[in-house]
Amino acid sequence: MKERMQSHSARLGLTTTGEDFEIPASSGFSRIGSYEVERMLSCHGQGIVFLARDPMMKRKVILKVYRGNDTVRPNRRLVNEARALARLGGRSSPLGFAVEHFRKSEFLVMEYLEGRTLRELLRSSVAPVRIAMQVVLQAAQALAFVHQAELVHLDIKPSNIIVTHKGVVKIIDFGLVQAIGKVQTAFSGTPAYMAPERLVAGSGPVDQRADIFSLGAVLYEMLTGNAPFSTVINRRSRELGWDSINVAPNDIEKLGSYCSEICSRCLSKDLSRRYQSTAELERALKRMIAKYDVEHRRKSMIAPSRSIADMLLSALT
Ligand SMILES: Nc1ncnc2c1ncn2[C@@H]1O[C@H](COP(=O)(O)OP(=O)(O)O)[C@@H](O)[C@H]1O
Ligand SMILES: [Mg+2]
Repeated sequence: MKERMQSHSARLGLTTTGEDFEIPASSGFSRIGSYEVERMLSCHGQGIVFLARDPMMKRKVILKVYRGNDTVRPNRRLVNEARALARLGGRSSPLGFAVEHFRKSEFLVMEYLEGRTLRELLRSSVAPVRIAMQVVLQAAQALAFVHQAELVHLDIKPSNIIVTHKGVVKIIDFGLVQAIGKVQTAFSGTPAYMAPERLVAGSGPVDQRADIFSLGAVLYEMLTGNAPFSTVINRRSRELGWDSINVAPNDIEKLGSYCSEICSRCLSKDLSRRYQSTAELERALKRMIAKYDVEHRRKSMIAPSRSIADMLLSALT
């Protein structure tokens, strides 16, 4: 039995301790439940993410296996993510298909969004200002659906934003999502993008403005190549957090006339100065896009007539 388990794990490219998932050894082709694993996309934090094929439905899917969970007490992040996807119904995020069991673990099956994350798109270059504003506008519109569902994402960053091949911007990775207005239940997230109010121990309820801060950090990074407080390479999380609470973002005035005000308001430590909603941020971005287009004598591109994925790709490669 043990041997069978081990050989299965080896085929799967996973090593196991007991019956839990552990560190992936390779991304060899195999199965998880009825799904044929094509490759591993990521393995860190609490989850291992695979691109797989569903032979019954004849479609590609994403499998997200959460480590350290068991069927008696399912992993909280898995439950969070599955329920958020169900609530959002695919409008601004992947469709959630199912939660299934594999050995003693549970995994989430969701829609595969064909495209690239902002992290991948930004790997080789910064984005031109017009494209950065367009992408962040669409990300704000996607985030609006999350906030309308009374949820706050709490982990907005470039690797959790996908630009699909059809030019639609969607948000993924809802493991930290929680109800708007609740005191945060876990002190986790990505320090470089985390709103200062989330880093102060014993601070009050967290709302949509925490996501607006993170989206401002994404805009800042698209324009400069660095998150607002990470110009020093290999900064430790604790230092990043300290800066997020205490220090103004670097060189905000150098972001140029279109984006410096927008970034400065998104990244404001004073919650009352920050945009209060995605709608407010959207209005500011649309104003700046219109201004840009007039100044550059270009027709408005707010209607996504041309795929922003194409625009980004041609601009960044
Ligand atoms: N629905 C999806 N469609 C396409 N790619 C996805 C999808 N979900 C996740 N990915 C890819 O897998 C990576 C990791 O997934 P994510 O949900 O962000 O988990 P984690 O950050 O915890 O590893 C993403 O950055 C993205 O490249
Ligand atoms: Mg992620």
